[in-house]
Amino acid sequence: MPKNRLRLVGALATALVAAGLTTGTPAQAHDRPATLAELAQRHGRYFGSATDNPELTDTAYTALLGSEFDMITPGNGMKWYATEPQQGVFDWTNGDEIVNLAHKNHQRVRAHTLVWHSQLPGWLTGREWTADELRAVLKKHIQTEVRHYRGKVYSWDVVNEAFNEDGTYRETLWYKMLGPGYIADALRWAHQADPHAKLYLNDYNIEAVGPKSDAYYQLAKDLQAQHVPLDGIGLQAHLALQYGYPTTLEDNLRRFSRLGLDTALTEVDIRMILPATEEKQAQQADWYRDLTKACLAVRRCVGITVWDYTDKYSWIPAFFPGQGAALPWDEQLRPKPAYFAIRDALK
Ligand code: G3I
Repeated sequence: MPKNRLRLVGALATALVAAGLTTGTPAQAHDRPATLAELAQRHGRYFGSATDNPELTDTAYTALLGSEFDMITPGNGMKWYATEPQQGVFDWTNGDEIVNLAHKNHQRVRAHTLVWHSQLPGWLTGREWTADELRAVLKKHIQTEVRHYRGKVYSWDVVNEAFNEDGTYRETLWYKMLGPGYIADALRWAHQADPHAKLYLNDYNIEAVGPKSDAYYQLAKDLQAQHVPLDGIGLQAHLALQYGYPTTLEDNLRRFSRLGLDTALTEVDIRMILPATEEKQAQQADWYRDLTKACLAVRRCVGITVWDYTDKYSWIPAFFPGQGAALPWDEQLRPKPAYFAIRDALK
């Protein structure tokens, strides 16, 4: 091509790029609606989703997961059965896959979970331990996992679901063998392994003020008095239309905030008895709006995570037969009234 024609082509290309006509990117960036993450960021909050490894082959699913949210929680990939399937043999495959994907998408990670009574490996539940042995097993698990993810995760759900509905300690393997002090120990061990990660206690049915959330309130105060490193309380918020909205949510968030603790809604979904009528979806949308507003109203409520974002991958139908439709996107990844209600609340 002669030199002057080359120059002309070059100038034309520059002009097209400047006008956003070649790739379309600059124009689209202005036209597309803000994501939930962007809307939440305007309030200094995050908006997150859980995800699970088998779903990551679904490209339509991962596209939304990667664009709409700025915080990711592995639904199963960091649990004990997945990360230490044999004693002392650690497997980071699933957790790493999610952390790497999140970082590629400039998302942070709420890591979940170190100490729980569920989804433990057979080698741990299948034999008897002395208290000393069990303490050593717990410490090693916590510190090895937290060290592996040091600097790569925003927070850890250190202890998950430690209390019964009446506010008494749940009689888990940990509690029975080690007593209630296992919680303080777990927090201290995690803090040693990653001093920058925010350390949480996390549970369900603690959205409202009541015996179970009172137990966390008291425990948080006791831990603070002992200078145990605790940063926040995670309210899972697995709600169900048939059980009513936790109307004291905002007050509850506020009392933890007053202790100087962060709070977060960590596993939100709002299930219903199927079929999902228009009326139930409208009620669900109101609840999503209300809980988003409650978090925004309390300074130390740092963000909201839905327990996956689409009904396609919700845990609900398998655990509560006849119930479902709990998430803001339907099984075809179409946004539901709940999604628009969350947007409303964030605007
Ligand atoms: O990995 C096996 C797979 O090999 C097998 O073929 C398949 C057949 O059922 O099961 C797979 O295991 C399932 C596992 O998720 C991984 O997909 C279990 O059956 C299933 O029970 C397990 O459910 C998880 C549940 O925790 C266990 O309690 C859900 O996915 C997970 O979303 C859920 O998450 C919990 C939070 O960690 C804590 N708060 C409550 C929340 C909902 O239960």
